[in-house]
Amino acid sequence: MLEHRKPENSSDYIAILITKFLRFFADTFFSKRYGHRAVVLETVAAVPGMVAGMWIHLKCLRKMEHDRGWIKILLDEAENERMHLMTFIEIAKPNWFERALILIAQAVFWHFYFIIYIFFPRTAHRIVGYFEEEAVLSYTSYLEQVENNPDLNVDAPQIAIDYWKLKSDAKLIDVIKVVREDEKGHALVNHNLADTLDEDSSKSHIKQIELKKEEPKFESKSEKQDTSRYQQFHLDDLIFFNRVVMAPLTRNRATTKGVPTPMMAAYYEQRASAGLIIAEATQISQQGQGYYCTPGIYSEAQTEGWKKVVDAVHARGGKISLQLWHVGRISHNEFQPNQGQPVAPSAIKANSQVFISSGLTDVSEPRSLMGYEIPLIVEEYRQAAVNAKKAGFDMVEIHGANGYLIDQFLRDSTNVRADDYGGSIKNRTRFLLEIVDAISTIYPPNRIGCRIGPSSEFNDIRDSDPQTLFNFIAEQLGQKGLGYIHVIEGQTGGDRNNSVFDYNTIYQNFKMHGGIASMANNGYDKHLSEKTTVDLVAFGVPFIANPDLVYRLEHDLPLTDADKDTFYGGAEKGYTDYPFYSKD
Ligand SMILES: Cc1cc2nc3c(=O)[nH]c(=O)nc-3n(C[C@H](O)[C@H](O)[C@H](O)COP(=O)(O)O)c2cc1C
Repeated sequence: MLEHRKPENSSDYIAILITKFLRFFADTFFSKRYGHRAVVLETVAAVPGMVAGMWIHLKCLRKMEHDRGWIKILLDEAENERMHLMTFIEIAKPNWFERALILIAQAVFWHFYFIIYIFFPRTAHRIVGYFEEEAVLSYTSYLEQVENNPDLNVDAPQIAIDYWKLKSDAKLIDVIKVVREDEKGHALVNHNLADTLDEDSSKSHIKQIELKKEEPKFESKSEKQDTSRYQQFHLDDLIFFNRVVMAPLTRNRATTKGVPTPMMAAYYEQRASAGLIIAEATQISQQGQGYYCTPGIYSEAQTEGWKKVVDAVHARGGKISLQLWHVGRISHNEFQPNQGQPVAPSAIKANSQVFISSGLTDVSEPRSLMGYEIPLIVEEYRQAAVNAKKAGFDMVEIHGANGYLIDQFLRDSTNVRADDYGGSIKNRTRFLLEIVDAISTIYPPNRIGCRIGPSSEFNDIRDSDPQTLFNFIAEQLGQKGLGYIHVIEGQTGGDRNNSVFDYNTIYQNFKMHGGIASMANNGYDKHLSEKTTVDLVAFGVPFIANPDLVYRLEHDLPLTDADKDTFYGGAEKGYTDYPFYSKD
C-alpha cells in the first residue's frame, strides 16, 4: 500500500482531508522521528476502536443479536491498537510532557470521533480507514529508516514479544512489520464497514432502476387467463412483473475460479420476464464450494462478474435475487482450502455424490465444525451479502434446503452437536437465525428470502419430526420480517407427495408472524400454479428450456422439454440456445 484509496464522494473527501491534516501535524512536529510519529498515530488510532466498540456495545445492549461480528472485530481492533500504543511508548520513551500531550490528544480526539461516529458512522469508518493507511505509509518509512541505520534497531519490548508471540530476540524491525500488517487489516475492515454503510443508504440506486423498467410486451392472440398469477406483485417496495419466479438452478458454467461469465449474463437476461429470478446457488467462501464451476460471491472478480449479470437483467426491467450457499459436508477435498476436509455440524458422511473436475464422485469424509468457526461462517454470509449488494442484486435468498450446511444444522440426522447449535429445535435453528441477523445488517429483512425443503431427503438428510421443526422455523423467519419463505414441497425434483406434510401451516406461520410472501416450488405446472393460493410459484426445470416461460404459461402455449444431458456444465448448447416461442 503506497498511497491512499481514492475518495469517491464528499464524505470520503472530508475523511481524507482530516487525515492529511494529521499528516501535516506529524510532519511539522515530528519530521523523521518515526518512533514519536508512531505514538501519535497509535494514540488517535486507539480511540476509534474504543469508541466504535462502546457505541456498538450500547447498540448491542438494545438488540443483542445484531452486529455480533462487528463487535468482536472492533473490540479486537481496539485491544490491538492499545498494544501498538503501549509498544511504541516503550520504544519512543516520550518524556512526561509528551505523555501529557498524548493524554490530551486522546481526550480531544475521543470526543471528536465519538460525535462523528454517532452522526456519520460511514465517514467515521472511512476516516479510520484513511488513518490506518497513513499509519501503513508511516511504518513503511520507519522500516526504511531502521533498515538503513542498524543502531535504531533496538530490542523489541517484552509486551510486543508476548502479544504477537515474536521470537525472544525479536527486534524493532520485526515489531514494525507485524504492526504494519495489523494496520493494513484495520484499514480494510474499516473501509469495508464504510462501504457497507454506503450501500445501506443507496436505495436511490435501486429506485432508479425501477423507474427505467418497461413492461415486456406480450403479443399473443390467445385469450388471457382469468388469474392473478401473471399480474404484478408488490413485495413491499419491490415490484415484480408477475408472480412466477425462476427457481435457483445450478448450471456449472462459471469459471473454475467461480467467476460468472458473459454467457451467464445472456442466459439470465433471456429469462428476465420472470417476476423474480433467483440466481443459482453461489458459494459464500471457498470452503462452501461442493461442485465444479459453480459461481462464488467472495472475491472481487466474482462480484464484478455477477454485476454484469445483474445489469443485464435490470436492463430488461427484471428483478434478481442471489441464492447464498455453503454446501457443508456435500463437498470434496478437491474444493477445500489446502485440500482439507469439508465441514459439517457433525462428522457424519453423506451417501451422496458431487461433480469434481474428473466427474461424478462420492463426497469426502467431513469433519465437525469447532465452536469458534461458526461465527466466522456467519460473518462470511454477511460479507457475501455485502458483495451481492455491490453487484446490485435486489434481494438475497438464504439456501436452507437440499441437505447443504444450513439444512445439516437444522435436521437431527446430521446434527448431533452437544453445544448451543445442536440438540433442541431452538439450538439447531440458531445458525440459520444468526445468518438472517447478519445479513439483515446489509439488506433490509424484506429483501431477504429463505429456501427450505421440509420433507425433501435430497443429499441424504432427514429429521425425526420435520413438521414441528419447520413450523418453528417458519414462525421465527416470519418474526424477522423476511420477504419470502420459499418451500420445496416434497422431494426436490421428485415426488411432491413423498410424505404427509402440511405446507399450509408453514406459509401461515410465516405470514402470521410478520413474514411477507409465500413461495412454493416443485413440480408445479400451469394448472397447479394458477390453482394455488401461495403468493409466488417458482419453476425450475421449465425455465431451463423456456426462457419466455411466463409468456407461454399465460397464453397457454406448449413448453419445450429440457435436455438433461446439458443441465450441468458445458457451453451455450442447452443453456442459451433454447428458443423463444414462435408460431412457426
Ligand atoms: C439443473 C438443476 C439445478 C438445480 N440447482 C439448484 C440450486 O442451485 N439451488 C436450489 O436450491 N435448488 C436447485 N435445484 C432445484 C430446483 O430449484 C427446483 O427445486 C427443482 O427443479 C424442482 O422444481 P421444478 O419441478 O419446477 O423443476 C436444481 C434443479 C435442477 C434440475
